[in-house]
Amino acid sequence: MRYGYFDDDRREYVITRPDTPLPWLNYLGNEDYFALISNTAGGYSFYQDARLRRITRYRYNNVPPDYGGRYLYIRDGSTGEFWSPTWQPIRGDLEKFLCRHGLGYSIISSLNQGIAANVCYFVPLGENLEVWDLSLTNQRDKPAELDLFSLVEFALWDAQDDSTNFQRNFNTGEVEVEDGVIYHKTEYRERRNHFAYFACSKPLAGFDTQRADFLGMYQSWESPIVVEQGRANNSIAHGWAPIGSHHLKISFVPGQMHRIIFLLGYYENPEEAKFDPPDSQSINKQFIKPIISRYLDPDLVDNAFENLKLYWDQVLEVINVHTPDEHTNRMVNIWNQYQCMVTFNMSRSASFFESGVGRGMGFRDSNQDLLGFVHMIPDRARQRILDIAATQLPNGSAYHQYQPLTKRGNEAVGSNFNDDPLWLVLAVTAYLKETGDWSILEESVPYDNRPGSEHPLYDHLQRSIRFTLDRLGIHGLPLIGRADWNDCLNLNTFSSEPGESFQTVEIQEGDTAESVFIAGLFVLAAREMADLAAVRGLSNEAAAYIQIAQGMEKKVIENGWDGEWFLRAYDHFGQKIGSHQCKQGQIFIEPQGICVMAGIGIDNDMARKALSSVKEHLNTSHGIILHQPAYTRYYLNLGEISSYPPGYKENAGVFCHTNPWIMIAETCLGNGNMAFEYYSQINPSVRECISDVHRCEPYVYAQMIAGKDAPTHGEAKNSWLTGTAAWNFVAINQWILGIRPTYNGLKISPVIPQDWEGFTGIRIYRGVTYHISVVRKGPGNRVSLHVDDDYIDGDIIPIPPKGVEDVQVQVTLS
Ligand code: GLC
Ligand code: GLC
Repeated sequence: MRYGYFDDDRREYVITRPDTPLPWLNYLGNEDYFALISNTAGGYSFYQDARLRRITRYRYNNVPPDYGGRYLYIRDGSTGEFWSPTWQPIRGDLEKFLCRHGLGYSIISSLNQGIAANVCYFVPLGENLEVWDLSLTNQRDKPAELDLFSLVEFALWDAQDDSTNFQRNFNTGEVEVEDGVIYHKTEYRERRNHFAYFACSKPLAGFDTQRADFLGMYQSWESPIVVEQGRANNSIAHGWAPIGSHHLKISFVPGQMHRIIFLLGYYENPEEAKFDPPDSQSINKQFIKPIISRYLDPDLVDNAFENLKLYWDQVLEVINVHTPDEHTNRMVNIWNQYQCMVTFNMSRSASFFESGVGRGMGFRDSNQDLLGFVHMIPDRARQRILDIAATQLPNGSAYHQYQPLTKRGNEAVGSNFNDDPLWLVLAVTAYLKETGDWSILEESVPYDNRPGSEHPLYDHLQRSIRFTLDRLGIHGLPLIGRADWNDCLNLNTFSSEPGESFQTVEIQEGDTAESVFIAGLFVLAAREMADLAAVRGLSNEAAAYIQIAQGMEKKVIENGWDGEWFLRAYDHFGQKIGSHQCKQGQIFIEPQGICVMAGIGIDNDMARKALSSVKEHLNTSHGIILHQPAYTRYYLNLGEISSYPPGYKENAGVFCHTNPWIMIAETCLGNGNMAFEYYSQINPSVRECISDVHRCEPYVYAQMIAGKDAPTHGEAKNSWLTGTAAWNFVAINQWILGIRPTYNGLKISPVIPQDWEGFTGIRIYRGVTYHISVVRKGPGNRVSLHVDDDYIDGDIIPIPPKGVEDVQVQVTLS
C-alpha cells in the first residue's frame, strides 16, 4: 500500500493523505539554520546545534504524535468554524490534502469549505530564517471573511534544559513585540546575544505571545480559545511559555487570492550593540529589520526559492545516471544524495527518532557520512574532516562524539570505541581521491582541540593506524575496547544496573576481547594508507603499510575464520563470538562484509564461502539481518546487543548500514546479480509499495528494518539519520555502477546485473564532465574502455590535460 507517489521531474515525494503510518519528515536548511518538518507541518527549528540553540519546542513521544510545529488556523468569520490547513494540530477532515516534500522545501496544500491553502516552507540559502509562504484562495462563489492565526512555540534555547528545568524556566521567558514582529528574547538580558523573531507580511488584527492566553489554561492545540473566539489577546509573555501567534483578518471576494508571508528566524547581535537604546534592555533591531523586510517581499521570496532549486540542480549534476531500473535512478539521482546531505549536516543528532539533545556528531558516523557527501561540496567535506580530526586524542583514539556548536569532544561518553580512529583514514582518502587536494594532509590540526598540539593531518592518520597496532590481543587481533562499529556488542562492560548506559559503564581491562571486524577495517585502512603513501612517492612507508596489512590479514585467516564464515570476536573470557560453536549469535554480518571489502580471503575461497553463508543464514526478503540466531536472553558478557528483543536493532534486525558492505563485497567477487538484489531489497523506493509494512518514509533509508525474529518483520524505524545513506550511495554508485574516484583518475568498473544491457551516466570529477556510456556485450564484468574514441588500457580514465571540459567515455562489458 502507498500513501503517495514520486514526482521525479519535480524531485518531490507527494504524500496524498495526512495520516501516514508515521510522520514523514523532511529537512529544511543546509548551513546553520535547520528545520525538521513533517507532512503535516510538525517539527522544530534550531541554529547549528539541535541541543544548544533550539528555536522552537517539539514534544517527542507525544500522543497523538508529532506535536509542535509551524501551525496555521483558518477560521470562517461567518460560522466560527475553524481548521488547520496542514491537518495538524486539529486533524479535521480536509476535502483535499497534498504534501510535496522536495529538496530543502515542503509544500502543504489543502482545500476545505471552498478555501484553498498552499504553504511552502523553506530556508533561503545563506540565511538564518525560514519562510512560510502562504497563499489562500477563496474558491467559493461568494465573499469570505477569514481569521488567520499563526503559531509557533518557542523553546528556551537549550533543548535539554527546556524539557527538564521548569522551576527556573517558568520564570525566564521574555518577548518583545514591535511593528507586528514577535521577538523571543529569553535570557537576552544576560548571557545571550541571540534572539528569535516571527514576522508577518500583512497588518495584524492582534497577536499573542503567552501560551496559556492563546490556548486557554485547559484547552489544547486543537481548540485554542483565541481561535474559538476569533480574537487575539495581545498577550505579552513574562515567564511561563512564550509563543508567537499573529492574528489576521482577511476579506476575499469570490476567486480572490491573498499571499501572506511569515518569517521565523534567528539572529545574533554583536555584544557591543545588543541593546537599543544602548542603556536599555530592549533588543537592538537595527541589523535584523532590513533582513525581515527583504524576506517579507514576495518577489524576493520567489527569487530565494528559485535559488534554492538552482543550488540543488548544481549539487545533483555532479552525479547523474540512467539505468534500466527506475528505483536506482531515482535514489542515485535524487533521494539518496539528498539524504547524504542531511546525514552530513545532522550526523545522528536531530530526527524524529533522535531528540537532538543526545548524541551530537559521532566520530565514526561523521567520517562515514562523508563518503556519500564528498563529491557534492568538497570544501565542506574538507572543513568537516579538520573538525573531526581535531577531536582525536594524542594516542590516536577519539572522542566518540562532539557537539557541533562547540566542536569539542563530549566528555560524558568519552573514548575507547576502538574502531573510531580508523574511519578517519577512509574519510580522508575518499576526499583525496575525489579532489586531488593534497594540501589537506599538511593542514595543521590539534589533538583534543588543545592549542599547541597541532600536527599535520597526515600525522593523525598515522596515529589512527598506530592506535590499533598498539592494542592487539592474544590472537594478534585488535582489542575491541568499549565496542566497535556495533555499539551494542559490549564485550568489556558488564552491566547489571537498570538504566546504566552501556556506553559509559566502567570498562574491563585486558587483552582478551578482540574484534575481527576491527581487524578487517584495519586491513582496509592500512591498504588505503599504503596506496596513499605510494602515490606520494613514499615507497618505504607504502611497503611498511602493506606489510602490516598482510600481517593482520594473516591473523584473521589464522584466528578469525570459523570454517564457513569469519568469526565476529573473542569475548572478555576468550570465548568465540559469531561461531558455529555458539548457542546464539553464530554468524554476524559485519566481519563478512568488511573482511571481503578489505580483500581478505579473496584468493583462498574464504570470501566466497563467507558470502554464501551470509546468503544462506542472514538474508531475508526485507534485507540482510545482523546475526543469527538472535539472542533470546540477556547476556552480561555481550551487553546491549542482547538487551533488545530478538529481531530489533542490533539484536538481529536488518541494520541497513551493513547491507551495502555485503553488496560491495559481492561486487569484489564479480557478482552483480547478487549485489543488485541486496541493493533492491532495502531500496526505499522499491519498498514504497509496502509502505503499510515498512511505515517509514519511502524516499529515504531507515537505520533498521525489523528482522525475521521480530513479530513486525519488515517494519522500519529510525529513518533519515543513518550511515546507510552514505554506504548505499557508495555501493550503488562506486561499486555496482562502478564509477569510482581513484588518485589517478576516474575508474569505470561496473559489476551490474547480467540482464542489464548497460547504462549511461554523467560524472563531474575534478572539474571535468565525463559522459559515460556502458554497453553490455557479454555476461561478465570485463571492461574495455574508449575515451574520446581512443582505446585505453585498463579501466581508469587518465586525468585529461588542463582546459578539457568534456570527455566521452565508452565502456563495453563482456
Ligand atoms: C548507530 C550508531 C553507529 C553504530 C551503529 C551500530 O547507527 O550511530 O555509530 O555504528 O548504530 O551500532
Ligand atoms: C547505537 C545503537 C543504539 C544504542 C546506541 C548507544 O547507536 O544503534 O541501539 O542505543 O548505540 O549504545
